Amino acid sequence: MKKSNVVINTDIEQGTINKNIYGHFAEHLGRSIYEGIWVGEESSIPNTRGIRNDVLEALKKLDIPVLRWPGGCFADEYHWKDGVGKREDRKQMVNTHWGGVLENNHFGTHEFMMLCEMLGAEPYIGGNVGSGTVQEMSEWVEYITFDGESPMANWRKENGKEEPWQLTYFGVGNENWGCGGNMRPQYYADLYRRYQTYVRNYGENKIYKIAGGANIDDYNWTETLMREASDFMDGLSLHYYTIPGDFWEGKGSATNFSEDEWNITMKKALHIDELIRKHGTLMDKYDPDKRIGMIIDEWGTWFDVEPGTNPGFLYQQNTIRDALVAGISLNIFNDHSDRVQMANIAQTVNVLQAMILTEGSKMILTPTYHVFEMYKVHQDAKKLAIDVNTGTINNGSISQLSVSASKDEEGKINISLCNLDKDSGADISLDLRGIADPSKISGRVLTSDNMNDRNTFESPEAVEPVDFKDYKWNGQTLDISLPSKSVTLISIES
Ligand code: AHR
Repeated sequence: MKKSNVVINTDIEQGTINKNIYGHFAEHLGRSIYEGIWVGEESSIPNTRGIRNDVLEALKKLDIPVLRWPGGCFADEYHWKDGVGKREDRKQMVNTHWGGVLENNHFGTHEFMMLCEMLGAEPYIGGNVGSGTVQEMSEWVEYITFDGESPMANWRKENGKEEPWQLTYFGVGNENWGCGGNMRPQYYADLYRRYQTYVRNYGENKIYKIAGGANIDDYNWTETLMREASDFMDGLSLHYYTIPGDFWEGKGSATNFSEDEWNITMKKALHIDELIRKHGTLMDKYDPDKRIGMIIDEWGTWFDVEPGTNPGFLYQQNTIRDALVAGISLNIFNDHSDRVQMANIAQTVNVLQAMILTEGSKMILTPTYHVFEMYKVHQDAKKLAIDVNTGTINNGSISQLSVSASKDEEGKINISLCNLDKDSGADISLDLRGIADPSKISGRVLTSDNMNDRNTFESPEAVEPVDFKDYKWNGQTLDISLPSKSVTLISIES
């Protein structure tokens, strides 16, 4: 394996990496909200006002900037008025999209806003276009943000919240080409224009409106939305999942996968770079100043559910392979931070590429959690210009390395490096242009012996970051040896 050369221009800043790229998504799906986050005040699981303490404390350590809720597909069948008022009086519904289970609406607007406050995260609420009315959407925003006397503000006060909440991010529909109404782009563009008209800014509260965007490579959707409605939006979403197999025929196992599936997964994770470029080019055509954010509000791995679990609950395990997908994707988002203003991994707890898995009162952190914890240093940092000259793996089809670098407020340089090779380490010569002699270098690495290693309830700390010391400053460059299948963060002070 040839040595890779990485140049980091520590004095060439290329804008700010929006902290919202490190956003999350929690849907009413399976055991994500109920059990994963919300256990209720009467639960024997220790909780704060119904939110389980172990999950809350773990999530706080990620500095989650923004949390998307209530869906996903659920958003377009959610009627928010059923989820406020006394919990025991709330109307039940069937969550038809996700397992056909009964939803008791105990976790609603007040509980979600409380969770965001506890996490210090900004709320990102998705409104219902598919099966909801313009009035319903408009009144939700009034309920949340109106300060003073109004029917909805008065109702909010009756329900215990005197002051309005601050709400910035609001999605006008989700996947409206599919579960959000099976619409054609022209039709949705018109509906978007109509619905968003009544998403009002009350008082000082200014809403950042996000239009439902394309699936994967549906460039026609992006082009139509940009052409017909770009004047009315602040953000346009994009959804892309890393699926090694076929969505309908079998996505592949989360834990029992072949070496080929490892490589396919890496390749598919890297594919989001092409999608961002191509959708970005279309956005540039109508918005050359990049006012409108690309909002990648669903991304991550999607595998077959864990054997024996409800297929509608999307519960999957999480291995070092998932950690690589997270590291690669976040490096790519950083790289496109001139256009990508937010990304929300799917999903926070117990669903798809989760940070946390729970089993009753037990909780484990996944390898993906550790990547988010390591990478939080990039939030709102200055992106640095880099040049990566690396070898390839899998017969030349995949770059061995994925790298991103940023400079924080104190001038500390943080470099995230992924070695996608499941078999071999990576030797790197890192040229730190602009730094003559670093005063302090430190590192942490997340790796594992086997490509399907994971944390389990029996062995919760099998895959965890450890100190990384396999580097040497030779007076001019930093020589680094990364282990195979690893995500590493190196921090440099000068
Ligand atoms: O994240 C799971 C589902 O994937 C979401 O509900 C939907 O928007 C997407 O298809």
